[in-house]
Amino acid sequence: DTVHSVIVAIDGPSGTGKSSTSKAVAAKLGLSYLDTGAQYRAITWWMITNGIDVDDAAAVADAAGKPVIVSGTDPSHPTITVDGLDASGPIRTQEVTSKVSAVSAVPEVRTRITGLQRSIAAAAPHGIVVEGRDIGTTVLPDADLKIFLTASPEARAARRAGELKGADVSATREALIKRDAADSTRKTSPLAKADDAVEVDTTELTLQQVIECVVTLVEEKRAAA
Ligand code: DC
Repeated sequence: DTVHSVIVAIDGPSGTGKSSTSKAVAAKLGLSYLDTGAQYRAITWWMITNGIDVDDAAAVADAAGKPVIVSGTDPSHPTITVDGLDASGPIRTQEVTSKVSAVSAVPEVRTRITGLQRSIAAAAPHGIVVEGRDIGTTVLPDADLKIFLTASPEARAARRAGELKGADVSATREALIKRDAADSTRKTSPLAKADDAVEVDTTELTLQQVIECVVTLVEEKRAAA
């Protein structure tokens, strides 16, 4: 019996439970895991620490090939380094969060990071869960299963504020709506649902229910293959 490797693309805006769901599904099914948002955050952190103005698209494009970004794909211990430095803490700061949309809109950045993502997916021995904004549409258009997670803006802001412990929900909501709008309207590879993606509205679901739903969809795909 050959167990075929399975490629799962999970896209959607922030606050839909994408990362928690993707990690849990990968762990449960013995698959690798890749957080592509972390890679865009890592390149943004590198731009900031190297004094590059993130609003200067030409400067960002020029530097896009310089940082060495390495992602560890174990879902129970995902890692990310930039030029050998652990970036997992610094990529979650408010500064990086507010600048990542500008950096990730630059086509040279997307070409670079997309190439990394495709080679990581191709190297995963049993398959991989890849989460992001353009995985089903652009990065892995031949994925075996595409999921698009949604939730109401209120639910998404409440979840993000919960993660950021003590953050103001209305301020979080404003920042989140602004970032989603930037990510959805950029010219190159915007946040979008692929035509063949399964949409899961998580507004009324617990994290456990979302995980079970996605695991079932993967198992159905595997059984049909
Ligand atoms: O999922 P996240 O919040 O960590 O993503 C950070 C940013 O990275 C997001 O605002 C847009 C960008 N991003 C992207 O452009 N394409 C992806 N596939 C993933 C993230």
